[in-house]
Formats: sequence, structure tokens, C-alpha cells
Amino acid sequence: MTAEFAGKTALVTGASRGIGAATAITLAKNGVSRVVLHYNGYKQGAEETQAAVQAAGAKSEIIGGDLSTPGGIRDFIGELKATAPSVDILINNAGHLVSREKLVEMSVDTYDRVMDLNVKSAWFISQAVVPHMIEQKSGIIINLSSIAARNGGGPGATMYAASKAAIACITKGMAKELAPHGIRVNAVSPGTVDNYFHEKYSTRQMLDGMLAATPAGRLGTNEEIADTILFLCSEASRYILGQTIEINGGMYMV
Ligand SMILES: NC(=O)c1ccc[n+]([C@@H]2O[C@H](COP(=O)([O-])OP(=O)(O)OC[C@H]3O[C@@H](n4cnc5c(N)ncnc54)[C@H](OP(=O)(O)O)[C@@H]3O)[C@@H](O)[C@H]2O)c1
Repeated sequence: MTAEFAGKTALVTGASRGIGAATAITLAKNGVSRVVLHYNGYKQGAEETQAAVQAAGAKSEIIGGDLSTPGGIRDFIGELKATAPSVDILINNAGHLVSREKLVEMSVDTYDRVMDLNVKSAWFISQAVVPHMIEQKSGIIINLSSIAARNGGGPGATMYAASKAAIACITKGMAKELAPHGIRVNAVSPGTVDNYFHEKYSTRQMLDGMLAATPAGRLGTNEEIADTILFLCSEASRYILGQTIEINGGMYMV
């Protein structure tokens, strides 16, 4: 527990499970006073995260919303402004592969959903929270990239990979634009985290292949990503700006 997060409000998108849930709980355990949780379909998961956040001593609200459509993003931002107009720490975590589709198969609808969920939502949620950060001359934004941004993604995941490469690029641009206002922007880039994401989109055989390519000899955990996000939110990382930190057990070395 550190005093530096006392009085701060964090928003974690995609906090109903996985990396987002672990991050919300880690922030609360380390002294963030209020953690606003977003979910899409898994309300029970969001409520479980909320219970853990509150048990750690933080206040918490839940906001639902499908961020894979422009209307869903607009509605979520509207509700966010009504519920928590002053966000100090933004974790743009919500994201998914949406569907494994190769070039010859992909519909325009899938393309739009991948890009809206993984890129447009992070950009416009950031736009919504940044005026308060500029006013108070401080703020933290952490985006979620992926190892896919480095290697082009697995089968049928090219546009997902491209969306995560866009996130790494946006992270640099936002960091430059917002640094003069005291706002630090960074990203984390997980390798393979053995959670619902891969349960949904990868076979056991694919996961075994990823494991074989990981020098650490095991896949990552949600908490290992959350710990790096906590570091990037903290004063200990005060001179780190615009970086995308690779967390992958050595699967990819920059
Ligand atoms: N797992 C990995 O190996 C890995 C690797 C690299 C990067 N990442 C990135 O890490 C982030 C978190 O993923 P995770 O691994 O924690 O996966 P996860 O456990 O499946 O959680 C994904 C979260 O995103 C939310 N989400 C999914 N579709 C959504 C939609 N249409 N609108 C709004 N929210 C939506 C989910 O909400 P509901 O459950 O409520 O629907 C959930 O809270 C993502 O950006 C992902 O791309 C993951």
C-alpha cells in the first residue's frame, strides 16, 4: 500500500475478468481510492471484481457497455461522464480478438468491430478523460498492446495484431502530446496470458505451441501484467513515457 494513490480515481475498462480484473484489484490493494469498473457481457465477473476492490478498501462503481460499435462507445462515455467525471488513472484494457478470420474471409463488420473495440474505444475514452487531467496537470494512461503487434498475430488475427500495433503507435503520440500537461502515457504488451481470452480464441494445441516458444517455460498470469501496470502508474516509473513494455516470459525480445 502506498500513499501516492490516495484520493485517486481509476477507470479500468474490461474489468470483469482477466488482466482488467487483476489490475483493478491490484490498484485498490495499493491505495487507489476509487476504481470504476467497466464490463461488456459478464456482469457477474464485474460484480466479483467490485467485491474484491471494495474489500481492499476502495470505492467502486460498475458501468456496462459494448465498445465494439461507435454507438456503444458513445453511450459508455456518456455514462462515464455522469458517474465519474474526474478520472486520474485510465487503464484502456478492454479488447478482444473478436473472431479469427483470414484476409479472404473477413467481413467489413468484423474489421470494424476489431478496430472499434481495440483502437477507437481507447482513443475516445482517453479523449473523454484527458480534459480533467490537463486541468489538474497530472494523469496516467496505460494502454494494452500485444505481442501480436510485433509478430503480425496468429492465424486469422492479422487485424487484431494491426489494432494492437496502432495502440503502440497511439501510445507514443499521446505521450508526446500530453507530457507537457503532466500526463504520462505508456502501454503494456502481454505475450500469452493463459486466461479466458485464449480459452475463447485458441486451441490447447495452439497454446502448447506458444508455451514451447516461451523461454520462461510457462505462460503468463493476469497478476504479472497487473503488477507492471501498477509500476507504470507509480512514481517509480516517472521518467518512462511513450513506452510499450513487453511482458512475455522471453517469447519475444526487443
Ligand atoms: N490474454 C492474452 O494472452 C493477451 C495477450 C496480449 C494482449 N492482451 C490484451 O489484454 C487485454 C485484456 O484481455 P484479457 O487477456 O484480460 O482477456 P479476457 O480475460 O477475455 O478479458 C477481456 C475483457 O475485455 C472485455 N471485452 C471483450 N469484448 C468487449 C466488447 N465488445 N466491448 C467491451 N468490452 C469488451 C471483456 O468484457 P466481458 O467479459 O464483460 O464481456 C473483458 O472484461 C485486451 O486488450 C487483450 O487484447 C491479452
